[in-house]
Amino acid sequence: MSARVSIRDVAARAKVSLATVSNVLNRPEVVATATRERVLAAIEELGFVRNESARQLRSGRPRAIGLVVLDVSNPFFTDVARGVEEAASEAGHAVILCNSAGSATREARHVELLAEQRVHGVLITPATNSLEAVDGLRRRGVSVVLLDHPARLEDTCSVAVDDRTGGELAVTHLLAEGHERVVMVNGPAHVHQAAERHRGAVDAVLRAGRDPELLETIVMPTLDVASGLRAGEQLLARPVRPTAVFCANDLLALGALQALVRGGARVPEEVAIVGYDDIDFAAAAAVPLTSVRQPRHLIGRTAAQLVLAEADTSRDHEHHHVVFTPELVVRESSRGPRRRRTASRR
Ligand code: RIB
Repeated sequence: MSARVSIRDVAARAKVSLATVSNVLNRPEVVATATRERVLAAIEELGFVRNESARQLRSGRPRAIGLVVLDVSNPFFTDVARGVEEAASEAGHAVILCNSAGSATREARHVELLAEQRVHGVLITPATNSLEAVDGLRRRGVSVVLLDHPARLEDTCSVAVDDRTGGELAVTHLLAEGHERVVMVNGPAHVHQAAERHRGAVDAVLRAGRDPELLETIVMPTLDVASGLRAGEQLLARPVRPTAVFCANDLLALGALQALVRGGARVPEEVAIVGYDDIDFAAAAAVPLTSVRQPRHLIGRTAAQLVLAEADTSRDHEHHHVVFTPELVVRESSRGPRRRRTASRR
C-alpha cells in the first residue's frame, strides 16, 4: 500500500510552499487562480486526502456550524436547513442539525454540546424568548446568528421575515374576497412568529375599517397537522361555520383543510383557507393552499453566510439584522367570486 501522501508531497509536486497548499485547502479565495489550479492538479495526481481529524486536533475546531431548529419535522425548517447546508458546504463546512422540539431544556443541551465541540458558529431559532442559550454561546466566544427571529441584539446577527406584514397580507386577502368574519387558528403566544402574525391579522381588520370583533382567534398548543385537524373538527362542529380561516402556518392549514373536506365542507366555496410558509405541500394539497410565502432557502443561506463571516473576522465583524418581506401566493383554497360572504349554516 503506497505511503500516505502528505501535504509536503503536494507542495513539492506543485512547486509551492506548505502555506500555499494550506490556503488552497482552507481559504481558496486568497490563492491566485493559476496557483490554486496547479495545487489542485497535484492533489489529484498524488491522491492526497486531508487528514481532517489531525487538522481538528491541531486547530481544535471542526469545520462545522451548528443549526438548532424548533421542529425538524416541519418542512419550513428543512427548507431553511437546505439553504444553510448549501452555503456551509460552499465554505467547506459541515452542518450539525439539532432539534429543540420547542423545549428550552433540549435547546440548552444541544447548545452545550455544540459549544463543547467548538463549532465555528451556531444558527438558532430560540425555543423561548429568553435568549439565555444565545447569551451562553456568546460568553463562550461562539458566533451566533438568530434564525427566523427578529431580536435586534447589538452583538448578534439575525435573519427573520416580517411576520406582522405576513399576517396582514393573509387577512386583507380574505376580507377582499368578501368574507364578513375570519377565524385565525394560531399557535401559543410565546412563539413570537405566531404572535406577530396575529398582530398583522388585527392590523388588516383595523386598516379595513372593520370591527375588530370580526376576527376570532383559536389558540392551539402546537403548530402542526394534528392541531390543525383538531381545529378543523371544532369548526365543523359549530352550528354556524366560519367562511374564512387563516392558519399561522401551513401544517395547521393542511390539518384544518383535511378535517373540513373530510367532514363534507366545500373549500373554498363554503370555507376559504389561508396558510403560512408556502412549503411544497401547500401547492400539492388536494385543494391547493393559498399561503404566505417565506423565502426559506434564502433565510438559511443568509444566516449561514453571516455566521461564517463573523467566525472568520470576529473582531471587526459588523452585525446585520436582515428582515425579509413575505408574499401572498393565492391558490384555489381561498380564491372565489368576490361577493359578500356570511357564515354558512350546516
Ligand atoms: O415554527 C413555527 C413556524 O414559525 C413555522 O411554521 C414557520 O412559519 C416559522 O416561521
